[in-house]
Amino acid sequence: MIKKELKIAFTEYDSDQELNSEEQELLKKAREASKFAYAPYSNFYVGAALLLENGVIVTGNNQENVAYPSGLCAERVAIYAAGAQYPNIAIKTIAITCNSKSFKVDQPLSPCGACRQAMSEYEVRHNQNIRTILAGETGKIQVMDSIADLLPFMFKAEELKKG
Ligand code: THU
Repeated sequence: MIKKELKIAFTEYDSDQELNSEEQELLKKAREASKFAYAPYSNFYVGAALLLENGVIVTGNNQENVAYPSGLCAERVAIYAAGAQYPNIAIKTIAITCNSKSFKVDQPLSPCGACRQAMSEYEVRHNQNIRTILAGETGKIQVMDSIADLLPFMFKAEELKKG
């Protein structure tokens, strides 16, 4: 038996102003996108903005449904839109943020497991790390160099070929 450890790294910033101008702009777009979320059941509004390698920004927000599981998170709405419209362009950075009608979100959003897996697919697909910016309405901002830092044990295509 051997006990192993895995370390992940992220950077924490105190406010939007500490990010570089490109990242500030992307987070602003994610904040704007969150305003158009359709979230009548949770009142929790999530916005995601992707910066592609060609400079285009693609946004998404959560789309809920009265049949709850039929809804989709902001990250997947955005990343699938990018995959549909720009299939061959790598994703450089994603900014994700949220706000709620019921309370002030004062810590960074922590993306759900399904979205982490979905985002990791595009990191692998384009063979390029996706820088990830996580923010709430206020409070700290967390930045990871890669989706792999959010999902270290991601399911990968090689596993389909083994055995
Ligand atoms: N949601 C997202 O859009 N992204 C996440 O990473 C977590 C949760 C949405 C789904 C649902 O519409 C609402 O937030 C509450 O779970």
